[in-house]
Amino acid sequence: MADCIDCNAIIPYCTVMGSITIRQLDDALKHRLRLRAARHGRSMEDEARTILRNAAGEETTPAARQPAAAPERQSPRPIEITDHGKRVLLIIGGGIAAYKSLDLIRRLKQRGVAVRCVLTGAARQFITTLSAGALSGERVFTDLFDADTEFDVGHIRLARETDLILVAPATADLMAKMATGAADDLASAILLATERPVLIAPAMNPRMWSHAATRRNLATLLEDGVIVVGPNEGEMAEPGEAGLGRMAEPLEIIEAALTFLSAHSGKLLAGKSMLVTSGPTREPIDPVRYIANRSSGKQGHAIAAAAAEAGAEVTLVCGPVALPDPPGVNTIKVETAEEMLAAVNRSLPVDVGVFAAAVADWRVERAGANKMKKQAGRPPRLALTENPDILATVAHRMRGRPRLVIGFAAETERIAEHAKAKLARKGSDWIVANDVSQSTGVMGGDSNTVHLITRDGVESWPPQSKRDVARALVRRIAEALAETGG
Ligand code: CTP
Repeated sequence: MADCIDCNAIIPYCTVMGSITIRQLDDALKHRLRLRAARHGRSMEDEARTILRNAAGEETTPAARQPAAAPERQSPRPIEITDHGKRVLLIIGGGIAAYKSLDLIRRLKQRGVAVRCVLTGAARQFITTLSAGALSGERVFTDLFDADTEFDVGHIRLARETDLILVAPATADLMAKMATGAADDLASAILLATERPVLIAPAMNPRMWSHAATRRNLATLLEDGVIVVGPNEGEMAEPGEAGLGRMAEPLEIIEAALTFLSAHSGKLLAGKSMLVTSGPTREPIDPVRYIANRSSGKQGHAIAAAAAEAGAEVTLVCGPVALPDPPGVNTIKVETAEEMLAAVNRSLPVDVGVFAAAVADWRVERAGANKMKKQAGRPPRLALTENPDILATVAHRMRGRPRLVIGFAAETERIAEHAKAKLARKGSDWIVANDVSQSTGVMGGDSNTVHLITRDGVESWPPQSKRDVARALVRRIAEALAETGG
């Protein structure tokens, strides 16, 4: 059925053969074209050319079908999609085409896609973890068993924390492992453990590609729902060898990946409600003076914005900040800790509570109704009293407690240790801890280096913008909600 795509369906999209733009096809047609291309072992572009040549009555002899070698090939048109917030796990197999995967990383990053790399043992014969790490800006994973336990991500999490797994180059060996369910190294274990979509870009010698075993494996993978891009025809690395087996060009692979990602960009938190506190509180001393802190509210506001972007119904309760209200968010402005607590209580119940506000720990016991007058040599004594702990109050609620309660820990020393203690003391499910020492520039700055403390341990995230921290947190929240029953 997938083969019944024909020129009548394709031709309306193309004015001349040279201007085929696969992305202009509608999704259903694209899907059928992709399957047909995979079955014939061609790239989607080549498949479309073949269909058009057939329509024009041309013979599609191997020579005629031979696409121009790479330099003459018409590149897919530049892709404008930016898929911010999307993540690709790139598994790089061991083939000469591995060098192209470095370009792939760069180009995906340019389009706003976060790329995490796994290199097979064979891939490391061709490229280094250093180059993949430098281009992706993330740690590169190679081993199934990692002694570096505190920061070990583990193959299950690698398999899960991505929107798409891309295998490029997908060698004959990797395809065979995928088809049979082998899991004897990190790459194959991830591929067996994942429920995420998998896109492969096969690359191998033409004889290996046409071998009955590879054909069987390909058929199994297609049946399993794996998406295939390429391979293309052309010269092989071995002198005098040519045929079908060259890995699709990075732009073709990106086109396939982004097409998939944009078609499946369902809202992660659709139908969920979230409450976020943000900014400082301001505790009056008298009508003109107050106690406050340096919090800018940037991180809390970014979380509210990212959650709204992900489809959640978001209430933001914020202290005085110099930031615009995030779009699509119900923003309630307060001044004091007590007002913040009251607004939070009114906003419950919610699925998730994120308490990012830097709430003043104390307030002046009796704020003056009138401006305090200066009396020479007699500075006033301010009697302070403790403010309610909003996070702890909500986390300890018997009724109306959010399913997931997330606190923040602004620390200046022994970050993980203090944050773990806060997790227990406040009764929250997670704590996002960061170093707010003045030298880090976190207070008021645009970037943040955080550690996520859960009951399972400590995860240290790389330095990134507050917006990216927010997006990563939203993804983790969506995963946690999905794990605990939607
Ligand atoms: N928090 C709160 N209400 C308070 C104080 C803090 O809701 N009165 C929340 C913050 O929003 C944050 C977490 O508690 O999510 C930790 O805040 P932090 O200021 O780091 O901790 P404190 O409890 O104030 O502890 P300390 O100042 O001793 O570090």
